[in-house]
Amino acid sequence: MNIIFYHPYFDVQDWLTGMAQRLPQANLRAWKPGDDRPADYALVWRQPHEMLANRRDLKGVFVLGAGVDGVLEQERQHPGTLPAGVPLLRLEDTGMVQQMKEYALACVLRYFRRFDEYQLQQQKQEWLPLEPHQQGNFTVGILGAGVLGGGVAQKLVEFGFNVRCWSRSHKNIAGVQSFAGKEQLIAFLDGTRLLINLLPNTPETVGILNRRLFTRLVPGAYLINLARGTHLVEDDLLLMLEQGQIAAATLDVFVKEPLPQPHAFWLHPRVTMTPHIAAVTLPEQAMDQVSANILAIEGGKSPTGLVDIQRGY
Ligand code: NAP
Ligand code: GLV
Repeated sequence: MNIIFYHPYFDVQDWLTGMAQRLPQANLRAWKPGDDRPADYALVWRQPHEMLANRRDLKGVFVLGAGVDGVLEQERQHPGTLPAGVPLLRLEDTGMVQQMKEYALACVLRYFRRFDEYQLQQQKQEWLPLEPHQQGNFTVGILGAGVLGGGVAQKLVEFGFNVRCWSRSHKNIAGVQSFAGKEQLIAFLDGTRLLINLLPNTPETVGILNRRLFTRLVPGAYLINLARGTHLVEDDLLLMLEQGQIAAATLDVFVKEPLPQPHAFWLHPRVTMTPHIAAVTLPEQAMDQVSANILAIEGGKSPTGLVDIQRGY
């Protein structure tokens, strides 16, 4: 079995060694431009499009992250990048759920306890106790209720928040109000005070965080975007912040990463930024899942994390 690997910044040697320990029968190699030798499986992240093009012998392409929008975007730009009929698989959880729970909970508590405002007060050397928010009118809405959104929802329920989620299909998550489909989006937004985005980036969700959506939230709402920068219409957020419809935003993802200089977000007093670290790929857990899935395919069993290419996630 031949396995090719490409990642722009992971430690290649760690991955080749780690995968060889898990699959001693496999021949592993780091793919380099010009390498068109046979391969059964490819492990990729932001790979050059020629890596996979025309490789009809592949039995699986493993994306080394949760989101597959990068690979699907390449396919749109260079049709044939993903050889037809080859299964595309993504990472499911592999330690990302715990990281997302930590990140989301930290943000929700920061806004709920008004630490963001006290931080601004301190910079101005002001001493002014504010009216505390009440959980009863601090409903958290989560766009996307899959592996990550569902996990975050459960964690926030544990902390006593009113939590609702929005997805394509209806969900049964204990203590969480489920809204599904375009027809229930407005009802989901009405009454939401803090919005967390954990949708995949697809043609249906791109630009979803826009002025029309923001105006449906409770005035003075908070936004936490943990999914993809392309979900957010940046100028609409800046306008909503100026008008106070959005009180503050935490952004982990951006249309262009790293965020270019100059950009209004860098110094905005009501925007908190992190450099796309909300939930990173943990190599050991990712290698366990990928190798288990390769063994499943080899054994004629169903792997986990299969992507529906038409749906886009
Ligand atoms: P997932 O399990 O596939 O969940 C996606 C959720 O979005 C599902 O609940 C799905 O609904 C819903 N959804 C998709 N399209 C929709 C639409 N048009 N309308 C309504 N709901 C829709 O994905 P995941 O593993 O939770 O990951 C979510 C995203 O997080 C990834 O795609 C990635 O972009 C992002 N991410 C970011 C980081 C970071 O560090 N910032 C790390 C990892 C992942 P159904 O359940 O009904 O299908
Ligand atoms: C990171 O953003 C991922 O999709 O895994």
